[in-house]
Amino acid sequence: MPDDLLGGKRVLLGVTGGIAAYKACELVRELRKLGAEVQVVMTPAAKQFVAPLTFEALSERPVLTDLFHPETGSRATVHIDAARWAQVVVVAPATYDFVGKMAAGLADDALSTLVAAANVPVILCPAMNKEMYVNPAFQANLRTLRDRGVLVVDPESGELACGEEGIGRLASKERILDAVKRVLLGHDALKGVRVLVTAGPTEEPLDPVRVLTNRSSGKMGYALAEAALWAGADVTLVTGRTQLRSADGVERVEVRTSAEMAEAVRRRWEDVDVLIMAAAVSDYRPRRTADQKIKKKGDQGLVLELEQTEDILGWAGEHKGERTLVGFAVETENELANGRQKLQSKNLDLIVINNPRHEGAGFDVDTNRVFLLDRDGRVDAWPVLPKIEVARRLVARVAALHRGQ
Ligand code: CTP
Repeated sequence: MPDDLLGGKRVLLGVTGGIAAYKACELVRELRKLGAEVQVVMTPAAKQFVAPLTFEALSERPVLTDLFHPETGSRATVHIDAARWAQVVVVAPATYDFVGKMAAGLADDALSTLVAAANVPVILCPAMNKEMYVNPAFQANLRTLRDRGVLVVDPESGELACGEEGIGRLASKERILDAVKRVLLGHDALKGVRVLVTAGPTEEPLDPVRVLTNRSSGKMGYALAEAALWAGADVTLVTGRTQLRSADGVERVEVRTSAEMAEAVRRRWEDVDVLIMAAAVSDYRPRRTADQKIKKKGDQGLVLELEQTEDILGWAGEHKGERTLVGFAVETENELANGRQKLQSKNLDLIVINNPRHEGAGFDVDTNRVFLLDRDGRVDAWPVLPKIEVARRLVARVAALHRGQ
């Protein structure tokens, strides 16, 4: 199922003249994949690095490069037309020169004029040599722009195009996309609300090299953390071991065992308004963890003695206060009856039930099919949806519940 998250949204991508300009090509592709319309605007220097034709092919639109000989539209108003069209302006890479020009309020080419005329959020993604980046003049310019409300996606450290090591590499496309999504999908349904999401599997050690775990990928919980961020929440993600990257702006707390997860939740409890317990917490753990690697015992086999772990959500239900609690349940039969029972026994406001045996649901896939059950007995059955879409809808529902609607 295609992820049409930015379907129909209009992104103006400014490309300025640095080596990282080639990375902007990838950014256009990713934005297009998410369904966005992308209008590329290049400075004259950017054309020294990448040909406009490349961007034209990737964006499926003529590239704007010249204020007075525009590829489309009227010469007199092309900068205004493009600025009004855009819902967000992203400049990636943004050079030392461009940032300086913007801070000084200068406008002498298509991109700088357009940015001056734009009345929408502007995201700057600086990329340059490390000495240029730390130059006090540049830092002062960046501060000026931040103070004016410009969003900055900070560069990263690593090997630079000039061969030196240090800060100045263009932020990864994932981080730039995080910023774009936050602007375009942002709302304030959970503004100021402190949301704690748990995600991923837990690991219960048997010995120094072996663990008992499960097949949870963490995708649903990570999507929820991101969707809560878009809703304006302060988000903490307590995560078991996964391969996933959490969105910029999410506070990430890594744990391994169910006991560590329980401790992480308890420690933050006074600062939690909403708990979304999407983690696949192990119900059992070995009663003893061997100090040394357990050796083969031949034909007599190996019996592991397990004990129950603490029910984190159960604890949360007992200490609920004014908080909103959301649980997940994996059920392979009698979904609604079992879900209802869990909702009551754990004192939840909402339970999200999925059956991994249904097509499009379950572990390690990008879609999910869920039922929702709330305290008032309302049942919602959603179709198969991308997990991020399930997350967005769920966050909207949780926000309404939290407001008492
Ligand atoms: N959960 C938890 N702590 C545990 C086990 C589960 O907080 N030790 C949470 C999960 O994160 C999930 C919810 O409880 O949100 C439901 O988990 P599930 O394992 O399906 O329910 P159980 O009550 O453990 O029932 P059973 O395993 O018998 O179906």
